[in-house]
Amino acid sequence: MDRLVHEIEQAAREAGAIIRSAHGTELGIENKEGRANFVTKYDTMVQEFLTERLRNILPEARFLGEENGMDLFTSEDAEGYLFVIDPIDGTTNFIHNLHPHVTSIGLFKDGQPWAGVVYAPVTDQLFSAQRGEGAYENGVRIHSSRQGLSDNIMLTGTSGFSMSAFAVSQKLTYAFQERCQGFRSTGSAEYNLCMIASGRAGGYFEMKLGLWDFAAGSVILEEAGGRITDYHGRPLTYREGSGIVALCEGIAADENLPDTGAYWDMWDGK
Ligand code: IPD
Ligand code: CA
Ligand code: CA
Repeated sequence: MDRLVHEIEQAAREAGAIIRSAHGTELGIENKEGRANFVTKYDTMVQEFLTERLRNILPEARFLGEENGMDLFTSEDAEGYLFVIDPIDGTTNFIHNLHPHVTSIGLFKDGQPWAGVVYAPVTDQLFSAQRGEGAYENGVRIHSSRQGLSDNIMLTGTSGFSMSAFAVSQKLTYAFQERCQGFRSTGSAEYNLCMIASGRAGGYFEMKLGLWDFAAGSVILEEAGGRITDYHGRPLTYREGSGIVALCEGIAADENLPDTGAYWDMWDGK
């Protein structure tokens, strides 16, 4: 892997140390727009830390991040390097001192994900990948499951922001449930993608995510032989957030999966 990716890994570990240091301190919790959408002073602090740290590593790169109004992909972002950062993915878990909550850094090249680093500070798990170079957990090569649905557990998102998305997700969960070994919900989209990449879970779907929720994990999953698309099975545009369906190699090869696109069409989009 490129030295650049190793430097990003180091920055992610340092961000993780800031997150670990938060426990037992005042988190400075504030509500953002919509329901169950929080930001803490650590989300802001880690994003500021990473912006400065990564700017030193790659001065020509642009930045997109969940916090501080840095969340829109502009036409200039489609060329050259772009860091897409979620300083803490799983903020609600973080607030409740619950694992997982991760720091996540995607690096785009000419508008497409090129490298991804996800660090889970509580368990000291570092996931990383570079396009064409494979995916790794703590330096050990990982591959998604080659088993089918009946030999896997699935992950589901919580869609805390929308009761109508939650209702449709429940229906889709029901449709998968019959054929898999059951569902789990971790509370971190990026961690879910890493769980599929490392063969622990078979798949995951969620109806509305920000670009930073899957920017890093998408490269890690694809480099681990998995597949990530929208609900209609189309490639992601990586220009904005979207619904995602992420599958391990074995489940992606199954031609009789529930029709996720039909469920998507049931959602009123609110
Ligand atoms: C959230 C997490 C969660 C997902 C939410 C995301 P945040 O990100 O990834 O798993 O269900 O939709 O918003 O707000 O903790 O960075
Ligand atoms: Ca997130
Ligand atoms: Ca976040």
